Amino acid sequence: MPSVSEILATMDYGPAPEGNAPVLAWLEANAGGFGHFINGRFTKPAGARLFTVSNPATGKPLARVSLGAAADIDAAVKAARKAFPAWAKLAGHDRARCLYALARLIQKRERFLAVLETMDNGKPIRESRDIDVPLAARHFYHHAGWAELIADEFPGYRPLGVCGQIIPWNFPLLMLAWKIAPALAAGNTVVLKPAEFTPLSALAFAELCREAGLPDGVVNIVTGDGATGAALVQHPDVGKIAFTGSTEVGRLIRKATAGTEKKLSLELGGKSPFIVHEDADLDAAVEGVVDAIWFNQGQVCCAGSRILVQEGIAPKFLAKLKRRMETLRVGDPLDKSVDMGAIVDPVQLTRISELVETGKREGGMLLQASCGLPETGNWFAPSLFTDVEPSSTVMDVEIFGPVAALMSFRTPEEAVQIANHTRYGLSATVWSENINLALDTAARVKAGVVWINSTNLFDAAAGFGGYRESGFGREGGREGMYEYLVPGWEAGLRPEAAAKRAPLSALPPDASEPGGIDRTAKLYIGGKQARPDGGYSYSVYGAKGKAIGQAGLGNRKDIRNAVEAAAKASAWSAATAHNRAQVIYYIAENLAPRAAEFAARLVAMGQGKAEAKAEVDAAIARIFWYAAQADKYDGRVHATKSRHVTLAMNEPWGVMGLVCPDEMPLLGFVSLVMPAIAMGNRVVAVPSPRQPLAATDLYQVFDTSDVPGGVINIVTGERDELAKTLADHDDVACVWYCGSRQGAAAVEAASAGNLKATWVSHGRRRDWLSRDQGQGHDYLRRAVQVKNIWIPYGE
Ligand code: NAI
Repeated sequence: MPSVSEILATMDYGPAPEGNAPVLAWLEANAGGFGHFINGRFTKPAGARLFTVSNPATGKPLARVSLGAAADIDAAVKAARKAFPAWAKLAGHDRARCLYALARLIQKRERFLAVLETMDNGKPIRESRDIDVPLAARHFYHHAGWAELIADEFPGYRPLGVCGQIIPWNFPLLMLAWKIAPALAAGNTVVLKPAEFTPLSALAFAELCREAGLPDGVVNIVTGDGATGAALVQHPDVGKIAFTGSTEVGRLIRKATAGTEKKLSLELGGKSPFIVHEDADLDAAVEGVVDAIWFNQGQVCCAGSRILVQEGIAPKFLAKLKRRMETLRVGDPLDKSVDMGAIVDPVQLTRISELVETGKREGGMLLQASCGLPETGNWFAPSLFTDVEPSSTVMDVEIFGPVAALMSFRTPEEAVQIANHTRYGLSATVWSENINLALDTAARVKAGVVWINSTNLFDAAAGFGGYRESGFGREGGREGMYEYLVPGWEAGLRPEAAAKRAPLSALPPDASEPGGIDRTAKLYIGGKQARPDGGYSYSVYGAKGKAIGQAGLGNRKDIRNAVEAAAKASAWSAATAHNRAQVIYYIAENLAPRAAEFAARLVAMGQGKAEAKAEVDAAIARIFWYAAQADKYDGRVHATKSRHVTLAMNEPWGVMGLVCPDEMPLLGFVSLVMPAIAMGNRVVAVPSPRQPLAATDLYQVFDTSDVPGGVINIVTGERDELAKTLADHDDVACVWYCGSRQGAAAVEAASAGNLKATWVSHGRRRDWLSRDQGQGHDYLRRAVQVKNIWIPYGE
């Protein structure tokens, strides 16, 4: 026992352990093993294959849990399907009461859940008690509100059915809340698979579902490993998969669900920048690093793992950071005065150690806190690399451990460049006392969440999710609710069998025009008409099979050229919404006097006169509508924490690939291109292959309407071949595809490469004349991604 004077000299803390008797008693009561939670009751563990779950801090076993097989997943999905109609039909108010009851129960069991989470995951009790569990309760409260308001706030939307939800081990209860609360609020039922390292809080939550009186089958929990998760992904009766975990598994899931019509949201890895400008409050920024990379042992998808510090202040900042590192306490996670707990599993510890060894081999300088580490369990000291470059492994690869890498930058411009030098785009942190600089940096980093002068803040009212290989979809807030809903008009469309069609036949260069018509439409790339790279064109036929002209037979090279032109036209995305509106109005204005000519062209293609006129009139009206929306479909300010504004900004994807429908060749084209460019995207559009001339006739309209070169690029040719190239292309961030089921499946599978977002029609025809189906907020919403920027205020 140290003396008082010794304590005063060292200022050391004594142990302050949190009691865990209630959790031990619960585990003891389930010593025979846990079953799955299916249809409102637990299955018997006897006879199931069981696996052991251990305490990361001690390595000692905590419980034995059932390893879900395909049959268990099937039973759970059946129960969820059976429960779906009644749950979906329930008044929003009644669903709200269930969610509210769950929120209340989580609060009542707060301490139990926090201790259980800490024992299962290894995170400090300080975090599970003050962050994970309160936020989980907050999520259920918030979504009880959405359930209450669903008919008012999402009129015309429907739930999806059974949602398969797969969660990771870093925030087991919180990720469960992020998944289950919005799904239930929207009227879906769920089958959730927790991570194999940390299934216990989900099983405790299953007990709360019973206590809350949730109808049987609304929530089902099947424990197991990757194979259990894969069985859930593959189950044909699941309407949506929501996944949080590694980018590698996210990619597998994207491929496995391609063409299945399952809605998908992916929240994947990150390598997030933490930018410290020279005018930052350095002490606050140092505390920020602690929260960014040593929170939850760095096992955080949005961890600020790349610290970028402006040159002039780098030595001072590093000195302060080193000093702070020395005060970090690592040890028993149940000790209330511990800053950092244990790594979740020996497998993850090995992965971290290997990456750190690579960092050292590559010349990085490793600094580690000199805190002692316990002898048993999985431990890794708070670590920091210096002497690294943007291409160093430790600056590039997600380590998912308490290891940051620090390098300096010279100018704000360079900071943004280094920050964006990554495949990921989950989050970013910006420190500066200059609000102009901070917001400018926030706007330019490619990340779904940006924290200014703060880090790792979360709230149920704000969307969370990434850009690029960090996945797509948002969790939380209004944006998150859309992930669990489908517009009624879209759900009502029926798939059609693809019409059998011969491939387009290439005409050799300079082939004489059929019927003596001298008219070959070229491609439209970078604001100029361009000959197709292959030099081939194909005949376009109109009414009664009569040739009415030729179009260029575009190939992969043409798509690549078009994408390059679109990528260069980035000024369009930075233009004001007013400017974009002016240009789009001008397109409508210039098309209007040529309405009769465009209608005649549609008649030549085989349409009736009245039909053709209606299509052209609707196209002009639609262009006006999107011009009007350009400066009106804007973002929000979410009500999150006190003394914060959380801006939900709509940002364009960048380059979009748009594959247009066969039906209504003019209106279909306009219906996809206009919302995309209104929101600031640059597009590569593939018009209807059979009737491309309605789109190619628009070149002159675009030229006379001040559309900057490269904003709209048009490549004619075989739809599915060109669509696949667009979906494969790493510089295309989002693809919309109207065409066959097979084509849709190919686009979704190819999109796994850079995990681009897709919106495909799966062989369902829309009525383009209908304002519901052919135009509206659903198009605008899918033309943007939401960036949440958190800004604190007050001294
Ligand atoms: P993981 O992606 O394998 O596991 C996440 C969840 O997916 C678990 O529930 C797992 O059982 C399930 N799963 C695994 N394979 C599956 C499949 N084929 N189909 C369906 N579900 C499947 O992540 P893991 O192996 O635990 O960690 C490896 C790395 O992943 C970490 O080092 C970290 O870099 C990253 N990671 C990222 C997370 C995030 O929050 N974004 C969370 C966990 C891990």
